[in-house]
Amino acid sequence: MIVGLAACGIGSSSEDALAKEGMAIYEMHCLNCHGEAGTGEGGLANAPVHGPLGHTWHHPDWMLKEMILGTFDYPQKTMPSFVGKLSDSDVEAVLEYIKSGWDTPQIVWQKEVTLKWNELNQGEDDQ
Ligand code: HEC
Repeated sequence: MIVGLAACGIGSSSEDALAKEGMAIYEMHCLNCHGEAGTGEGGLANAPVHGPLGHTWHHPDWMLKEMILGTFDYPQKTMPSFVGKLSDSDVEAVLEYIKSGWDTPQIVWQKEVTLKWNELNQGEDDQ
């Protein structure tokens, strides 16, 4: 488990550092099922691709975080739970890594969807 982030600058450089942490987590816990983050290459046939060709970017942040952690329930769930294995900041980091592969319009759209969900207050403890 990765604890905290080195305070190393502002803006996009701290996002880059977070994505870098997330890459290590992804490689350790996600790669064998989801394959290469951008293309899904090498992954299982039933594990969705997280890159621009997948639909992961359609979901708001709170939902993605719960999906990653395993606290979001949906029918026929097969993805393992990471409760007790990944901290909230690990989940943030791995999500940042996934986002770093999206196209700019997808990033912009997903940010808006996340804000709208937060406005409607349907998500949980998402800031
Ligand atoms: C044992 C294989 C397996 C592992 C390990 C795994 N996943 Fe998954 N994941 C799946 C499958 C299969 C699905 C499709 C939904 C389902 O069956 O639960 C999924 C769904 C998802 C979704 C929803 C995607 C979407 O587009 O709706 C996200 C996000 C996700 N996984 C992220 C991760 C992350 C991040 C990790 C590592 C921390 C991870 N998964 C580890 C198999 C896995």
